[in-house]
Amino acid sequence: MKPCLVVYYSRTGITQDVATRIAAACACDIEPVRDVRPRTGWAGYLRSGREAFARKTPPIAAMTRNPDDYELVILGSPVWVGRLSAPMRSYVQANAARFRRVAAFCTMGGSGGDKVLDGIAALCGKPLLARMALADHEIKSGQDRDKIGMFVQAATAAPTRPLA
Ligand SMILES: Cc1cc2nc3c(=O)[nH]c(=O)nc-3n(C[C@H](O)[C@H](O)[C@H](O)COP(=O)(O)O)c2cc1C
Repeated sequence: MKPCLVVYYSRTGITQDVATRIAAACACDIEPVRDVRPRTGWAGYLRSGREAFARKTPPIAAMTRNPDDYELVILGSPVWVGRLSAPMRSYVQANAARFRRVAAFCTMGGSGGDKVLDGIAALCGKPLLARMALADHEIKSGQDRDKIGMFVQAATAAPTRPLA
């Protein structure tokens, strides 16, 4: 059993930046969720908003990592129209039963993070070991380091008892 896997979706690279730093801090595996149909340009932006609003689960590319092999899965997603990004919803819905322990973070322009994190916990059917919502300005200005450090510490803290 490996300790930790970071799985993230990122349309424009912000969530990827945070996910990469979390994986480096945890020295763990990392894998992106990939679209089957590209989301570039205005058409991709509008479709993304529509799909997230309607809680759609669009097709995503096959993953190479199996969450069954990991003690902890850390999920990362942007906020889309106050909701979970549609590709990450697809991933979580398909894999939630395989997560032993789960933590999650989201990136956002400025609002909706808490609701999205609550939604991830609900989809997973278990509480998040750690949660973090980061605004784009915090990430771009480097003001996110303390929050990321605390998030990683909480997510990877040794469990007090083994899971059944
Ligand atoms: C379709 C769409 C809807 C969005 N809706 C919100 C929103 O409701 N609240 C918010 O704070 N940011 C919103 N954003 C901004 C993104 O959450 C934010 O820029 C995020 O960091 C982008 O991550 P990425 O670069 O990994 O794709 C939205 C972005 C897109 C593309």
